[in-house]
Amino acid sequence: MILLLGTQNEGKLAELRELLARVRGVELLSFHERPFSLVEESGTTFFENALLKARAISRETSLPVLAEDAGLEVVSLGGAPGVLSARFSGLPVDTTRNNALLLARLAGVNDRRARFVAYAVLRLPDGREFSSKGVLSGRIGESPRGEGGFGYDPLFVPEGQALTLAELPRPEKNRISHRRRAIDGLRDALERVAHEESPAGGRVF
Ligand code: IMP
Repeated sequence: MILLLGTQNEGKLAELRELLARVRGVELLSFHERPFSLVEESGTTFFENALLKARAISRETSLPVLAEDAGLEVVSLGGAPGVLSARFSGLPVDTTRNNALLLARLAGVNDRRARFVAYAVLRLPDGREFSSKGVLSGRIGESPRGEGGFGYDPLFVPEGQALTLAELPRPEKNRISHRRRAIDGLRDALERVAHEESPAGGRVF
């Protein structure tokens, strides 16, 4: 089965490719091989946005699509930046400015607990939909550290770790991440639909 990854974010794409590399019977495509329109993330939750993206891209391309929406929730900021994580400091999206704003908002704040949340949605051209959630708890550090990952990774220290997500080797981030946990919840559905046969005997997709 061909599975189109419904993101144009290169950081996410690289992680998703690794996370899905060992799903049997699934051939991954990205927007580089099969371009699709940008989808406006007008939902008020990660789940709504993941669903919006999966539906729009699967309708546009007639392919099975895996889309996800994720972001950072900081306890002392009442869950912000949440669904606004990418645009926290305004548009155009600027990661360095987002991280600087987050540190400014947390200046002098002792409670630095935070979590990454991801929702992944698999949508098939026949309209079937599957979804899964993943969470990674941790805290926001005092200054950016590390070169790996993307987004808020240089500021996020996972629970039980001393290093930020940007300091951890990618295999280690991928072993514990919110995205990994969300994708793992879709693995059974993916393997099942990848091996379905159409009534005529060919592959369904
Ligand atoms: P979206 O899911 O593309 O709407 O944007 C998610 C935004 O949340 C990204 O632009 C990042 O700022 C942030 N984010 C989501 N997942 C991660 C992650 O794994 N590491 C760091 N930042 C993330």
